[in-house]
Amino acid sequence: MAKQLHSLLSSCLLLVTVSIVLVHIPTQVHSITLESDIEVLQALKQAIDPVSIVRYSYLHSWDFAFDPCEAAGVFQGILCTFPTDKSANRVMAIDLDPAGYDGFLTPSIGNLTELTSLSISKNNFRGPIPETIANLQRLTRLSLPQNLFSGRIPHGIINLKHLEILDLSQNHLSSRIPADITALRSLVQLSLSNNAFSGKIPDLSGLWQLNTLDLSSNNLDGIVPILPINLRKLSLSHNVLSGHISPVSVLQRLTELDLSDNRLSGLVRQEILTLPLVVRINISNNQFTEMEAIPYPREDLQLRVLDAHANRLRGRLPISLVNIANLSSIDLSHNQFSGRIPSEYGAKLGSSWKSLFLEDNFLIGNLPPQFVDGTVAVRANLAHNCLMCPSNIRRTQLLNRTINGGASEDAKSEKKRKKDKRKLEQKQVVENSNCTNRVAVEEDDLSKKKKQKKRKDQDGEDLHDVIDMKKKRKKSKGEE
Ligand SMILES: *[C@@H]1O[C@H](CO)[C@@H](O)[C@H](O)[C@H]1NC(C)=O
Ligand SMILES: *[C@@H]1O[C@H](CO)[C@@H](O)[C@H](O)[C@H]1NC(C)=O
Ligand SMILES: *[C@@H]1O[C@H](CO)[C@@H](O)[C@H](O)[C@H]1NC(C)=O
Ligand SMILES: *[C@@H]1O[C@H](CO)[C@@H](O)[C@H](O)[C@H]1NC(C)=O
Ligand SMILES: *[C@@H]1O[C@H](CO)[C@@H](O)[C@H](O)[C@H]1NC(C)=O
Repeated sequence: MAKQLHSLLSSCLLLVTVSIVLVHIPTQVHSITLESDIEVLQALKQAIDPVSIVRYSYLHSWDFAFDPCEAAGVFQGILCTFPTDKSANRVMAIDLDPAGYDGFLTPSIGNLTELTSLSISKNNFRGPIPETIANLQRLTRLSLPQNLFSGRIPHGIINLKHLEILDLSQNHLSSRIPADITALRSLVQLSLSNNAFSGKIPDLSGLWQLNTLDLSSNNLDGIVPILPINLRKLSLSHNVLSGHISPVSVLQRLTELDLSDNRLSGLVRQEILTLPLVVRINISNNQFTEMEAIPYPREDLQLRVLDAHANRLRGRLPISLVNIANLSSIDLSHNQFSGRIPSEYGAKLGSSWKSLFLEDNFLIGNLPPQFVDGTVAVRANLAHNCLMCPSNIRRTQLLNRTINGGASEDAKSEKKRKKDKRKLEQKQVVENSNCTNRVAVEEDDLSKKKKQKKRKDQDGEDLHDVIDMKKKRKKSKGEE
């Protein structure tokens, strides 16, 4: 009897507990996070191919049996506001993991009006960036890089007055960069690289807070416009920009400049080479004809890497580069420099210059002694010039260098040069090819390895960049 009563009691208790739970969950969901925000999250998940929502991914944890803002262990990738008054929680940030989600960004995203950050990188979101994004007036970060978004930048983006980071790089976006983007005065970082944007770069001088501008790898043409005055990093590489680059010379805070692979021309002013904070300058693969001299020694400059290969630079090698105290990596290859290699270069090669590429110019005469000294640890290439070949350079290495980086490839790279290269210059190259020699100076393998390791620690990726560059050149040639 007592036993029966006990079991009856306990099952009653169980019932009560169950009903409490049943009653409680729905009220929690309704009262804590704004219903319409939950609907948006549902719509967001529904617009993704379920097959691409793998286990342990953030979206996999979105279980709508629970409250998105309150429940533990679910709804990864979401942050909420928790108002102190009785009003509902709102979704404040969405930051999805790169799990390979395949789908669309639902237009109802525009209903998350408290959103300050939307970040979805390295997935397969496709289709347009919804116009409704213009409703997200509190947005400070819109970061959608490395997806498959297509179409144009939504016009309404200019409503997002608090935007600080706009990163749409590595998508399939096209059309023009809206001119009124310059009204987004809070922008600190603007990255539109690796898309198919075309037309001119708008005047961006209104973006006075901008410190990073990356418009590389698009189809942008026209001139380099007036640029935001506080830029620290600027990349306009891999476009079809033309004209001179004087707008760059006022960017006193610039640390990195990449203008490579355009059709920029004229003089490279010393104001640019001597920008006080600039560490790396890459003006390779353009049509520059002249590099201005740096009139006196400069201990105050930060410049370490100068890559000016594949231009139309002519005249004597710029002796005044030795005036830049911290310069260590120089590439002036594939130009039209003539005359001798200055003895000043030799002195630098023994001390601060760690890599010097001068191949494929019209240099003549004897090498400064340091170039021949086997103990100097540098990477250098002097192939394809008209230099006297000294007898004491290590022949086996020369041979290998010639085979790897030599005639057949040089001939192809000649073809690969800008198509509009004038016939006269091509003739010059052919004529000069008779006095072509191949001289490569390289340290022996052991000291190279040591130095690679050492330089990796000190000097970042400089050396590897050069090696990568060469690999890339080879690769792209292989594909042709
Ligand atoms: C978003 O808001 C619009 C207009 O208020 C409404 O029609 C729509 O149903 C909402 N979508 C979601 C998913 O809440
Ligand atoms: C300069 O830019 C070119 C691409 O145009 C790249 O191949 C090269 O590695 C860059 N040089 C340096 C030193 O980063
Ligand atoms: C030059 O390089 C050295 C060593 O990397 C560094 O300590 C020094 O601050 C640099 N000088 C300038 C002006 O950048
Ligand atoms: C250079 O090539 C020779 C054969 O031509 C080979 O024996 C030698 O190992 C190669 N050296 C390097 C550093 O690749
Ligand atoms: C280049 O050399 C070849 C044979 O070695 C000769 O026939 C030709 O005339 C030379 N060309 C020039 C421009 O000197």
